[in-house]
Amino acid sequence: MNTFYVTTPIYYVNDKPHIGHAYTSILADVLTRYHRLRGGATYFLTGTDEHGQKVQAAARERGIPPRQHVDEMVVHFQDMLKAIGASNDDYIRTTEERHTKVVQACLQALYDKGEIYKQDYEGWYCEADEMFVAEEDLVDGKSPSGRPVELIKESNYFFRMGQYQDWLIEYIESNPGFIRPATRANETLGFLKKQKLEDLCISRPKARLEWGIPLPFDDDYVTYVWFDALVNYISAIGYGDPASDFATRWPAVHIIGKDILTTHTVYWPTMLKALGLEQPRAILAHGWWVNEAGKKESKTGGAGPTDPAPFIEAFGADAWRYHMIAEMRLGHDAPFSERGFAERYNAELVNDLGNLASRVIKLMAREFDGKVPEVDVSGSSLKASAAAAVTAYQQAFESDRPDQAVAAVMALVRESNGVFNEAKPWDLAKSGDKDALAASLVAPLEVLRVVSILLQPVIPEKSKALRDQFGFGDREPSLAAATEWGVIPAGTAVSPDTLFPRMKWKPKDEDTDKKPAAAAAAPPVGVATPDMITYDEFKKVQLRTGKISKAERVEGADKLLKLQVYVGDEIRQLVAGIAQYYEPEELQHKVVIVVCNLKPATIRGIESNGMILAASKGSSLKLVTVDGGQMSSGADVR
Ligand code: MSP
Repeated sequence: MNTFYVTTPIYYVNDKPHIGHAYTSILADVLTRYHRLRGGATYFLTGTDEHGQKVQAAARERGIPPRQHVDEMVVHFQDMLKAIGASNDDYIRTTEERHTKVVQACLQALYDKGEIYKQDYEGWYCEADEMFVAEEDLVDGKSPSGRPVELIKESNYFFRMGQYQDWLIEYIESNPGFIRPATRANETLGFLKKQKLEDLCISRPKARLEWGIPLPFDDDYVTYVWFDALVNYISAIGYGDPASDFATRWPAVHIIGKDILTTHTVYWPTMLKALGLEQPRAILAHGWWVNEAGKKESKTGGAGPTDPAPFIEAFGADAWRYHMIAEMRLGHDAPFSERGFAERYNAELVNDLGNLASRVIKLMAREFDGKVPEVDVSGSSLKASAAAAVTAYQQAFESDRPDQAVAAVMALVRESNGVFNEAKPWDLAKSGDKDALAASLVAPLEVLRVVSILLQPVIPEKSKALRDQFGFGDREPSLAAATEWGVIPAGTAVSPDTLFPRMKWKPKDEDTDKKPAAAAAAPPVGVATPDMITYDEFKKVQLRTGKISKAERVEGADKLLKLQVYVGDEIRQLVAGIAQYYEPEELQHKVVIVVCNLKPATIRGIESNGMILAASKGSSLKLVTVDGGQMSSGADVR
């Protein structure tokens, strides 16, 4: 069988990762792990897109060279992958030489074949979208994204993409699984049939954009960021190097969000065609996580995107992965709510799965000297249910419905809880009917073994922790083993453990005990509350501007930063609970508001003199700072 080679989009490093990036990575990870479970070879690639206008602009805004910016930002993405438990085999950065040399080789090959030509060009360019927009695609004189465009006249290099229009239509129509789900294939076909496919401008003059890969045949230009980025899918696996594994890995399954459909289903297939390469196995486009107002979770989407980090820290990576997969029907949008996340955790992981495991294994440990009793469970109704769940699970995965795969497993868990309850094992224990008791425990234990295998792709850590409770932790899980029944040997030691602790989590506004330490919760302006204070009382609080001169992490405390802050001539040391929201480097020279007359406190053995103010809502927190940021330190704040 060919390697199941799966990719995520390579993420832009102009911003920090959020729920959307984490989701695509989790989905790719789950699909990879599912294929591992099936028994085939897999290869999982992810990485970062580090060239282009947006990255150059973000670096300029920070006043640092682009190279330094990308080196700093990439860490956030790599940390995110660790936090979600991604099992990627490689991580490609487009600034690596192994990538840039393949991009240049592709460009040269296409240029030599006459697939690339130079021409004067005048057109509407949207800097924010980094693309030219055809006159007829302008919406009220703006890019379809709503961002401004400008008329640009320059010489550029073009890839003869237009010639592949008919071929591409025919290819998509005769390969129904190529773009999935089918709605996205129709969207691409609609686009291709509506208008003449233009050639693609693949260069940017260095005068306008320096941060890119130079064209190998004209040093005055760099490569258009998409032409550069898409090539990562082949550069990372060694395209052009006969000693690499390229031949056994390519073609890939590309997991993308629906926002980047055209680049992946039009630009990329035509580029591959021109290079004489096989088409991707599939392009699987998922929908968006949207916020409670129905807007795409993104930097510009209202309150800012959800950061998975606090949820993962509080509930664990598997709880987050589980929710992402169970909630999103692939291809559709899904709303994210903290309440929905916490409710699902408590209902499905704690009550359904956690309860089944704990009741069965605890009772077995207690009633049978900590060992699996000898009993024949081949007649249990759960045997057929488990087999049916495996089939439904597999069918769901094969039809791009991981949410339904999870649902099939959880239905089996719930059924097993019902069967367990009906058997009344506590009564059997009391009456001393050891055979019936053994049967009422071993059958659900077999279910738990099957479930721990099936859920392995989604909740890998907890699945292993579950198997550890009946001595199967070191066995490599496989789908084949999930189809077996009655295989846990009698006499196996069992050791009950809590899989999922119940969590008290009050979503967002109801949440009082999860507010980060530095952020004092102020009553809303203009609302009378019994806790009103007089002006004189308020005046007692000494607020001053301070300038952060140094920030560092507090060892062993994920949430804390130790800060040195200039307040006028004085330098103060204080500890703030903001480490999940700010990197120490970002804080240097920031002007903040310091509560100066707060009684000193010792936090983790470090003296803290005062407090800095921050605004916090839900899972986001921003330091309160001074308009324009130019105010010197020590100024009174009133
Ligand atoms: N750099 C390009 C991709 C180049 S691939 C050759 C890019 N980067 S991105 O950082 O903007 O990431 C976009 C991807 O992030 C989307 O395709 C999707 O996978 C994910 N998401 C970003 N926001 C999202 C949501 N709100 N919901 C779900 N996923 C979305 O585009």
